[in-house]
Amino acid sequence: MVRAWYMDNDPSDQRNEHHQNPPHFITLEELFKISGVEYFKLNIDTLDTDGVLDKIKKGRGYTYEDELVCSKECLPNYEEKLKIFYTEHLHTDEEIRLVTEGSGYFDVRDKNDQWIRVEVVPGDLLILPSGIYHRFTLDKNNFIRARRLFIGEPVWTAHNRPSDNMECRENYVKNLQTGNFVKVQ
Ligand code: LAC
Ligand code: NI
Repeated sequence: MVRAWYMDNDPSDQRNEHHQNPPHFITLEELFKISGVEYFKLNIDTLDTDGVLDKIKKGRGYTYEDELVCSKECLPNYEEKLKIFYTEHLHTDEEIRLVTEGSGYFDVRDKNDQWIRVEVVPGDLLILPSGIYHRFTLDKNNFIRARRLFIGEPVWTAHNRPSDNMECRENYVKNLQTGNFVKVQ
C-alpha cells in the first residue's frame, strides 16, 4: 500500500524516508484534496489481463505507454539523471507512473508549499497533475521499474522551479485555490 507523509527539513541523503518527528502521515484522500495527485491500486499479477488498467487508459485517453528502469546498471548517465529527477520541476501534462518492480519516492508540494513524500511500490499508479511542482528519488534499494503513460505524443520536458508564469501552473494554482480537482475514474 502506498504511504504518504510530510517531510522533515533534514538535507542529508535523499534516499532516506525523511519522516517528521513524530511522523505525520496523510491518507490518499487528503493527498488528492491538497495537491490533486490521484492514485490507483492495481493488481500487478493480472495487470495485462484483468482489464483494470485498460479501463483507466481508455477513460483518461492514455494512448502512449513505455517502460523505464531506473538503476545503476540500466539507466544511462544514472547519477546525472537522478539529479535531474530530484530537481524540483513541473510539466505541461500529467505525469503518470505505474510501478511494476522496486520502489521510490515522489515528492509533491501541498497547497502551503510543504513537501509531501509519496512512497510507491509495485501496483501503485500515481498521477501528478499538470503544473504541480514535484521531484523523484530512488530509495535505499536503488531500483525501480515503472511504466509511463501519456495522452498522445509524449512530452517529457521538465520546467524547473520557478515556472510560475506558465499557463499550466496558473491553472493548477487556480484549481488548488478553488479546491476544484475533479476525480476521473
Ligand atoms: C519525471 C519525474 C522524475 O519527470 O518527475 O520523470
Ligand atoms: Ni516530473
